[in-house]
Amino acid sequence: MKLPRQFFQPLAIGAPAPMRDLPIRLERMIHFVPPHMEKMRAKVPELAKTVDVVLGNLEDAIPVEAKETARKGFIEMGQTVDFGPTGLWTRINALNSPWALDDVTEIVGAIGNKLDVIMLPKVDGPWDIHYLDQLLAQLEARHKVTKPIMIHAILETAQGVNNVEAIATASPRMHGMSLGPADLAASRAMKTTRVGGGHPEYKVLADAAGDAPRAAYQQDLWHYTTAKMVDACASAGIKPFYGPFGDFSDAAACESQFRNSFLLGCVGAWTLHPSQIAIAKKVYAPDPAEVAFARKIVESMPDGAGAVMIDGKMQDDATWKQAKVLIDLAKLVAAKDPEMGQRYGL
Ligand code: GLV
Ligand code: MG
Repeated sequence: MKLPRQFFQPLAIGAPAPMRDLPIRLERMIHFVPPHMEKMRAKVPELAKTVDVVLGNLEDAIPVEAKETARKGFIEMGQTVDFGPTGLWTRINALNSPWALDDVTEIVGAIGNKLDVIMLPKVDGPWDIHYLDQLLAQLEARHKVTKPIMIHAILETAQGVNNVEAIATASPRMHGMSLGPADLAASRAMKTTRVGGGHPEYKVLADAAGDAPRAAYQQDLWHYTTAKMVDACASAGIKPFYGPFGDFSDAAACESQFRNSFLLGCVGAWTLHPSQIAIAKKVYAPDPAEVAFARKIVESMPDGAGAVMIDGKMQDDATWKQAKVLIDLAKLVAAKDPEMGQRYGL
């Protein structure tokens, strides 16, 4: 077992000290860009102003023959674009692929000081995080990177789900985790070809009452895994995200999947298509009416203790904490989006 005292020591001489707390950042959407396409790269300076995170995707969806071009394109993007307060992330190839080592070494060597987060796919257990953690420390030391690059794991294998708590606490570099419903479905032999979302056959039937037609209620295929991921992340002090929603033509279903994850505790989702950016902005921000009520709670219990009744509803220390979560998030959203700030009265 690693001793608690060693947990926050740099893993290489000259590497920056690991962070004790995550930077406070609004990350409602992680927007995926295919960096091998020049046309898409050209849009990034404008895109960066409209999203919270730009992610250069090097893994699945990038053709094998374009892997090197994608890596080079991402490095060029990192070198030439001013991202301002917007996060710059990459999704590297899986650790067992022929590209992962060059992805990490070349990117950290070229833009290590600009890169915020590496998204690591197909994480099976804490050993995957430990490997990348050590490698990053060596590269940070070699290239004089001054702030630690964080790791974001994709939860997309059955083994990863089994080990989710150990993954969440594997390193102080852990930023968070995203649900990867497509690979996870394959890994578990689930009988769906969809990327996220529900399935019409996953339902429960209402009890039979004579010959009357029975109502059927579709259930959420991803509820169990999302909730398990949220618990692992919340207890480790890192951030849970819903991942991709593949049916770009069904905005309503995308919004509903995003919203379920938000209500359960996720802070954002991936956006793979520009139309999903507005959906994520709408979903991953608290409802102004909820914020107004939360402010009432905090105002009537300034020190967060005791119990009061507001509009017939009991408030105590626990609802005060729930109110704080909503208000803190509303403040982050207001700082980035003045119109929402007005709606929150902040
Ligand atoms: C994402 O990578 C997924 O597999 O859903
Ligand atoms: Mg995947």
